[in-house]
Amino acid sequence: MKVPPINRIGIASAFLLASTTCIPARAETTPMSPGPVRLVIDLKAPAKRFASEFAGLMTEGINHSYDGGLYGELIRNRIFLDNEADPVGWTLGIPSNAIASMAVTDKFPLTDKLFKSLEVVITKVGANQAVTVSNDGFWGIPVKPATEYRVSFYAKGNSIPKRKKQKSDPDPTLFRAPLTISLASNDGSKVYASAVTPPLTENWQKIELTLRTGKEVVSSKENRFEISASAPGTFYLNLVSLFPPTYKNRPNGNRPDLMEKMAGLQPKFLRFPGGGFLTGIGSISTRYNWKETRGPLEFRPGHPCWDFRHSDGLGLLEFMYWCEDLDLEPVIAVFAGYFHDGYVPAGPLLEPYVQDALDEIEYLTGDAKTTYWGAIRAKDGHPKPFALRYVEISNEDYENDYEGRFAQFHDAIKTKYRDIQLIANYAVRSRKPDIIDHHFYQSTEWYVKNFHRYDKADRNGPKILVGEWATTRWEDKDKWEPNLVPNLGQALGDSAWMCAMERNADVVIMQCYAPLFVNINAGAWVWRTDLIGYDALNSVASVSWNAQHLFNTHRGDEVLSASMDKEDSSNPFPYSVTRDNQKGLVYIKLVNINNYKRDVSVILGKNTIVESQAEVVTLTAKDLKALNTIENPEAVKPVAKTVSDIASDFNITVEPYSLTIVTLKLR
Ligand code: AHR
Repeated sequence: MKVPPINRIGIASAFLLASTTCIPARAETTPMSPGPVRLVIDLKAPAKRFASEFAGLMTEGINHSYDGGLYGELIRNRIFLDNEADPVGWTLGIPSNAIASMAVTDKFPLTDKLFKSLEVVITKVGANQAVTVSNDGFWGIPVKPATEYRVSFYAKGNSIPKRKKQKSDPDPTLFRAPLTISLASNDGSKVYASAVTPPLTENWQKIELTLRTGKEVVSSKENRFEISASAPGTFYLNLVSLFPPTYKNRPNGNRPDLMEKMAGLQPKFLRFPGGGFLTGIGSISTRYNWKETRGPLEFRPGHPCWDFRHSDGLGLLEFMYWCEDLDLEPVIAVFAGYFHDGYVPAGPLLEPYVQDALDEIEYLTGDAKTTYWGAIRAKDGHPKPFALRYVEISNEDYENDYEGRFAQFHDAIKTKYRDIQLIANYAVRSRKPDIIDHHFYQSTEWYVKNFHRYDKADRNGPKILVGEWATTRWEDKDKWEPNLVPNLGQALGDSAWMCAMERNADVVIMQCYAPLFVNINAGAWVWRTDLIGYDALNSVASVSWNAQHLFNTHRGDEVLSASMDKEDSSNPFPYSVTRDNQKGLVYIKLVNINNYKRDVSVILGKNTIVESQAEVVTLTAKDLKALNTIENPEAVKPVAKTVSDIASDFNITVEPYSLTIVTLKLR
């Protein structure tokens, strides 16, 4: 098994290199602190300014992040391509004495990309009976009170076969009846909303209607979407879609609660399509091929990756809308020939992929009137070019002639787009990248021990994007537990690492946690741990989300020079001190992963005049395993208090197992 160089720790090696988290269990009696430490802050020393995009988000399709996650679509396998033989996600309900069947067919392609459809054959159905095809969505269909759901699908009735009729042929029963569309509980006891379509014809027709639930409805997810028919004959369905209200009411948009949780973090950039979702997990056909993710849904076939098929309804333009909606700088990654089963070598064979990347940049940034791809973007609905400043070449692409492939992409992109900052997966030598991307999936203990790692980074080299980081629990990797989101112990590892990155903001210019999302249903997730968890109805902001929220709302614009006396190098006490110049605030962050209190003497210097009252926010719990869950989403949340008697020198006691942030107001 290959071991990539240090600083580049991702899928390939995370399992191999992961150290075991061994934080001592909380003792019966709280042991004594090893003694006070002094945190000396030099307000006069030159400060390091934060890049404006310091904190961001990383996203990819892992863990049903989009289908069954952020993407608003509620129907699973809407184009019947998840499995070419089996209508997965769909169930046929046949009343007693009725005869019916369903199958995936390619008899009537809707488009060249959507070439499969669902064939429903009703041979016999009694009066007052209905045959039903239903979809139970992504682990349930969420139904909420007083809510409008937009339904759309293509349907057609059968036609007389276009061949010479033979005497023995029975007359086909032509299906020309309407269909009834409903939202119903799984046990069939409740129908929350329903509507009837016009009669079907022999041609595909697009049907659009609205389902409205009553205000008395109780929110639930144990529901299904139903299409019912009460007449014999054969009909066909394709691109069956059900959308609840979306964030900012965008058509084909995103789930509001997840957008709000991201917005709450106040991120500044979005790294996409990121991770294994870019390179593919397996053959080259599992890569992110942006050209297949644009245009009308009728022309998006989706693609397999991470063990399931992605609809790509959330495609390239939708990523950009996501950036627009949350005011995020796009940091795109382009496919550069490497997929998990192999790679396309640098040279002529790689050229089509270089061209794809150039086309992608033109699609995003090109003028709508004068460029080919800019005109296509305008046709897709966004005439105004996007601003694009960052492009990453591949993801976790460490060997396989990355040097040569990076050079080829670098030269092609820089020739045409001189100002775009190029991000490399490591410090390549063939060209000088503007930024390099580091990935870390490690234990709490590792992050604490490596708290000074970036203090030693080369200040003359490329800047650093820490494009994936998270405190993981590899020791639990084979167990299924509901705790797929980080617990307090992990949030403290994350906090230690955020201190490490913050303190070195002159070289670490951007950072983002990964993965961002997890659908917590068994069968939905493949990767622990993930920042935000959800099922079909509810979502939870993890303890780490809370830690990141505190960091992002207590940062300011520069990092102050600070040092800790008596720091135990075998058990560092992570800290970071930053300032908001406009507001005149100083933020002191301290991370205690120990089961005892720590006393800290803060020294600001004699001439510093500071308000005597300060805010202290603490994120802690009794147990490092404490978690926020869907059932108890606020089990661990920050608590703020005001303290008095603050002066230029003051003492503070930090709780065991805590992130503590002190906000001082300078006068
Ligand atoms: O974030 C999960 C995975 O970890 C990503 O797909 C990959 O880039 C990394 O190894």
